Amino acid sequence: MKPIYGLIGNPVAHSMSPDIHNAALQDLSLEGHYHAFRVENEDLEDAVKGMRALGIQGFNVTVPHKVAIMKHLDRIDESAEALGAVNTVRREKEGLVGYNTDGAGFLKSLKPSLDRPLSELSILLIGAGGAARAIFTTLAAETPKRLDVANRTPEKALAFTQRFEGEARALSLQEAEADLSAYDIVIQTTSVGMHPNIEAAPLSLTNAKETCLVCDIIYNPLKTALLQEAEAKGLKTLDGVGMFIGQAALAFELWTGHEPNMEKMKSIVLQQLGGKSC
Ligand code: ATR
Repeated sequence: MKPIYGLIGNPVAHSMSPDIHNAALQDLSLEGHYHAFRVENEDLEDAVKGMRALGIQGFNVTVPHKVAIMKHLDRIDESAEALGAVNTVRREKEGLVGYNTDGAGFLKSLKPSLDRPLSELSILLIGAGGAARAIFTTLAAETPKRLDVANRTPEKALAFTQRFEGEARALSLQEAEADLSAYDIVIQTTSVGMHPNIEAAPLSLTNAKETCLVCDIIYNPLKTALLQEAEAKGLKTLDGVGMFIGQAALAFELWTGHEPNMEKMKSIVLQQLGGKSC
């Protein structure tokens, strides 16, 4: 039987995952097909049973099921255990095993933009939701010089920074904005600036230093208001396409054992978004 891969989430109608995974399978002349399945919250358990019964080889998990799926799996890999969320499931001898490739996917996209090791860099993470947690946990393992978190609700940021053994402060958005010159990298992980509220940004970059790299994990739009401000100031930028492709490539590798053509995946995403990546 040809392997079947998939995505479960809600909504999934506009997901670009089927296109990039099917293109990667084709590119490597691998048999198989990737399909997106819309699954309501109350149907999650049945959906996982269905995945088992039908012999699905692997699937991605997206909003709103990334946490809820954990109790339906046979084992959680440490990559997902540390984040408390699963975005990739693989069928193994012991059953369905949950992984998380979000943080590692971001790091894969960030590394080519760095001119120094992370241990020498001060980082500001904006946001304290699920995406921020994945990125924080992955970056913390790289022991950056400083890893601060700013959030609209600073108490949530504190829950992150308390777990980090190195230098880390939990800040309000206003405090971070005032002290922005302290950072080599700013990473925006909130939903602020996402379509349709494309004029919004969580903070202003007025105080950012000239060498600062500004990253936004949003990819719709490709150039968020924050990245536009960064470009206008002559700062280096990184948009959200890299993280999206990075997490997909790592999931693909887990399932097939092959490294996909990331440039091809990226060009499909850019074509669909109708733009040019940073
Ligand atoms: P995800 O899983 O995509 O990270 P999430 O867990 O819902 O999404 O987290 C959303 C993040 O965006 C949070 O940091 C949230 O701030 P709060 O913790 O204060 O809720 C942030 N966020 C959402 N809307 C915001 C807004 N209008 N202004 C500032 N931050 C916002």
